[in-house]
Amino acid sequence: MTPQPRTILVTSALPYANGPIHLGHLVEYIQTDIWARFQRLCGHQAYYVCAEDTHGTPIMLKARSEGIDPEALIERIGEEHRQDFADFSIAFDNYYTTHSNENRYFAEHIFGQLQSNGHIVQRTITQAYDPVEEMFLPDRFIRGTCPRCSAKDQNGDNCEVCGATYTPTDLKDSVSVISGATPVTKDSEHYFVKLANFDSMLRSWTGSGRLQTEVKNKLSEWFETGLQDWDISRDAPYFGFEIPGASGKYFYVWLDAPIGYMASFRNLCDRSDLDFDAFWSPDATTELYHFVGKDILYFHTLFWPAMLHGSGFRTPTAVFTHGFLTINGQKMSKSRGTFITARAYLDHLDPDYLRYYFAAKLNNRVEDIDFNVDDFVTRVNSDLVGKVVNIASRCAGFIEKRFQGTLSTQLADPALFKHFVDANQSITEAYEGREFSRAMREIMTLADRANQYINDCQPWVIARETGQDDQLQGICTQGLNLFRILMIWLAPVVPGLARRTQEFLCCNIADAGNLNDLAEPLAGHKIGPFHHLLNRIEMKDAQEMMEKPLSLEQRSSSDSPGPHLAAEPITEEITIDDFSKVDLRVARVQDAQRVEGADRLLQLTLDLGGEVRQVFAGIKAAYEPETLVGRHVVVVANLAPRKMRFGVSSGMILAGSGSDDADGIFLLAPDDGAEPGMRVR
Ligand code: MSP
Ligand code: ZN
Repeated sequence: MTPQPRTILVTSALPYANGPIHLGHLVEYIQTDIWARFQRLCGHQAYYVCAEDTHGTPIMLKARSEGIDPEALIERIGEEHRQDFADFSIAFDNYYTTHSNENRYFAEHIFGQLQSNGHIVQRTITQAYDPVEEMFLPDRFIRGTCPRCSAKDQNGDNCEVCGATYTPTDLKDSVSVISGATPVTKDSEHYFVKLANFDSMLRSWTGSGRLQTEVKNKLSEWFETGLQDWDISRDAPYFGFEIPGASGKYFYVWLDAPIGYMASFRNLCDRSDLDFDAFWSPDATTELYHFVGKDILYFHTLFWPAMLHGSGFRTPTAVFTHGFLTINGQKMSKSRGTFITARAYLDHLDPDYLRYYFAAKLNNRVEDIDFNVDDFVTRVNSDLVGKVVNIASRCAGFIEKRFQGTLSTQLADPALFKHFVDANQSITEAYEGREFSRAMREIMTLADRANQYINDCQPWVIARETGQDDQLQGICTQGLNLFRILMIWLAPVVPGLARRTQEFLCCNIADAGNLNDLAEPLAGHKIGPFHHLLNRIEMKDAQEMMEKPLSLEQRSSSDSPGPHLAAEPITEEITIDDFSKVDLRVARVQDAQRVEGADRLLQLTLDLGGEVRQVFAGIKAAYEPETLVGRHVVVVANLAPRKMRFGVSSGMILAGSGSDDADGIFLLAPDDGAEPGMRVR
């Protein structure tokens, strides 16, 4: 039975245009893409739009620190994001930008409507201000001493040591992380949305099955506390849209970001025959879904529906919230090396592996999910390669070599085929309800069943007997038909594998509406030659992806707002005079010896251009002493001699290194031509 076609607009949250896409983001884009592909496979019209989130202070400051215009920055990062998404088979119908005419139009329009409907108030507020940069400071750009426990260098709004929360003005010795200046306070007039006006509207909107239970509970808390006015303006300098009639005031990035969903869709309508109003007018019968992470719930379940309702648009059908990704049980972190970018992954592994792994882990609750490397490799190899693709490789050869690539006209076991077809309802419901892990489990149980069928029939034995050709062809035809059904179900998850399967079986796998043709087996059908459909993951490749060091560019972007907050902070500033006290020289290694009883040290004899020194260096983990003789290094020549257990060390040689030896040790060396004794400055 073909279901009534539905018309659906789906979105994922817009990634900020100041850092790379990472595996955490991909949980969301993969989850949304699977769901949208599944809807199309059912025969529904599903449109998936997204965009770059381009405005706000962090993007403005990052561009400034690179010495480029924000427009150039968002252009460059946007291009990287598009490439990452394309390579992960995220099939957007439109990927746009919030820095667009469409978005400016809707931001102004919605603000204007809210204003004329009495939902906007103006009020003067007092905020921290950087007198050097001449700008107001968002909380995260202020650091100082915790007012409770006196821990130094804490955030503007909370202390990481004692957990206190406060406002930036409570901090002792506060500094602006942008200029280092002491912030002053300053008044400014701001625009607010009176969220309390929407209290009853929001209560009934959230009460009608649009949200997961955990999310509804969170909202009840917020309703209890009372809805506060929402500040939607920011003062210049700001990268965003200036508020009409309010010179020097800009829309806060979170006002125009969700409007970006609309603007992206508007842009799609203008390039196609889609009717914008059919999706956004208050009486629209189409469905609208937003996929978001738990950190941005507030914006999507309170502000956004209120903005839409207050300005004469429809509200979302539902908001689907997912939890956060951890890597090997830990929060993603650049300093711990668990920050894996989409590109680092793609440099080593097939995107379908990750898509399947996430699908196998995702459900419809707001739980965090963990990427565990060993589990990832085992799971993908055992399920996709060991179970699913294995069915095809066990049957394809016989059909190709013995039957000129042609399947029998009848199935060998129609009852088993029907058993598979009957599972469609349950698997479809699991997909629809975003219970992807249940869908994957049911599909893999059936894959086991198909392998069991082949084991029981033993086609390799039958192939050796004469006169059993019909039986052999029938068994392999049966196996390939079961494989076909599994691959249709898996098509939303593993688009690359689905495409190769389509070429191999010469039949439709992933096309729109194909789920409705599931029950029709391939009979008397000619298939193509069997090529390897999917390789096993090599543990080595997965490990290499994990260990890939981040470039400096990647370290300073993304979740850190400015260079002062980079993951591994630069130490206290020194003057040029401080620096010139350090006498650095080029030296030639005359001799290098292991040191009896020392795990990490080598004893070096260095020629500093006439003067010969003995230096102990903790580089044994990375260098064989013999390879060092004759090399040039850089030495701190005026370091006070230190008496060590093994002798006196007169100087220190320079090397790059991470926080522990496992990260490697990299000796600094001058270019060819440098002479021992030369000063390094
Ligand atoms: N720009 C805003 C969203 C505006 S939507 C109108 C934003 N951007 S983001 O780049 O920080 O995050 C984009 C999405 O990725 C969010 O839904 C966020 O929850 C999700 N994730 C970011 N890191 C994540 C994990 N580590 N794990 C899972 N999802 C994560 O927020
Ligand atoms: Zn504290």
